[in-house]
Amino acid sequence: MLPVNLRSYEALAAERLPRMVYDYYAGGANDEILLRESRSAWDEIRVRYRVLRDVSQRSLATTVGGHQLEWPVIVAPMAFQQMATPEGEVATARASAAAGSGMILSTLSNRTIESVRAASTGLLWFQLYVYRDRGVTAELVRRAERAGCTALVLTVDTPLLGRRERDVLNGFHVPAEFEAPNLGVDMRGTLASQHGAASALAQFIADYWDAGIAWRDLAWLRALTSLPIYVKGIVRGDDAMLALEHGAAGVIVSNHGGRQLDTALPTARALPEVADAMGGRGVLLVDGGIRRGTDVLKALAMGAQAVLLGRPLLWGLAVNGEAGARHVLQLLRDELDLAFALAGVCSPAEATRDLLA
Ligand code: FNR
Ligand code: LAC
Repeated sequence: MLPVNLRSYEALAAERLPRMVYDYYAGGANDEILLRESRSAWDEIRVRYRVLRDVSQRSLATTVGGHQLEWPVIVAPMAFQQMATPEGEVATARASAAAGSGMILSTLSNRTIESVRAASTGLLWFQLYVYRDRGVTAELVRRAERAGCTALVLTVDTPLLGRRERDVLNGFHVPAEFEAPNLGVDMRGTLASQHGAASALAQFIADYWDAGIAWRDLAWLRALTSLPIYVKGIVRGDDAMLALEHGAAGVIVSNHGGRQLDTALPTARALPEVADAMGGRGVLLVDGGIRRGTDVLKALAMGAQAVLLGRPLLWGLAVNGEAGARHVLQLLRDELDLAFALAGVCSPAEATRDLLA
């Protein structure tokens, strides 16, 4: 019997993955309050469904940043996907394209940008962290452009890595057999070995990424590339406006899946303020705790053009590789279609704020 929902996939993945890997994927910062609330905040929102709207003909199709998508769900950038399945991010590219959208590739992926681009024709954006050595960042941007990525996603909620106590207890490190070929620097000495009680990843980020990143760097990045830049990790309306003013093509309302600042704002609560501030200007996406089709419906109704799906995709990879990831996406897509029908919605454009209470 196949799993019937995304939660069931997590339970199966927990049985299959080594404890260190499952905890790295599942974990959040400190007391994991935000991790839990990122999920429950969506449940607290209620739908005032419409009736007698002839929902016999429905479409999930939408356009995000010029990309025609079959449905408003893109796979979030997540590091080290080969720890879930040998094909890693290549499996994710194939599954997300087959589902009718695409993915954002993490800087910390185990597969090269080029091999992920070659794996599918789906949407492929590249997620960037800014290194102290700006030359490394600039070369990564050029590589992503040459490989055919069609946008950059600048992650701004990680000047340092959040304290993931599961990783500290597990002595998290990236097993030596895995590479991170897009890093632009040799990570072997840092990521592959434990550093006393610290997470090797936290040490690597402290060593290489620039905690001094500021709005001026978005202007620097803007000057480097003609690719649209989306700023990921925004939870405030004023920061969303600063992102647009500094040349961003849009923002992703995100708190990094509760992995950075514990007790920060759940995205389901942050999204309305950001949507109101942006007033339809730029691309607006959201992630964090999306597990049901009704969560996607609610995000669209609040003004997001699409959502990013994180951990459930990893659970699908862990359970059954590309086929598992495809099934996870299909489960969510079917749930969204049913949620549209039951809410009296025939297209993403009809998912409006008056549906919510
Ligand atoms: C992430 N996330 C993340 N974000 C990013 O910008 N770059 C990255 O490399 C990673 N890596 C990463 C690894 C793992 C294991 C997880 C779980 C998450 C954050 C990710 O893009 C996204 O914001 C959240 O995962 C969304 O929340 P859900 O859907 O996982 O609840
Ligand atoms: C994480 C970093 C790599 O959340 O984004 O693990």
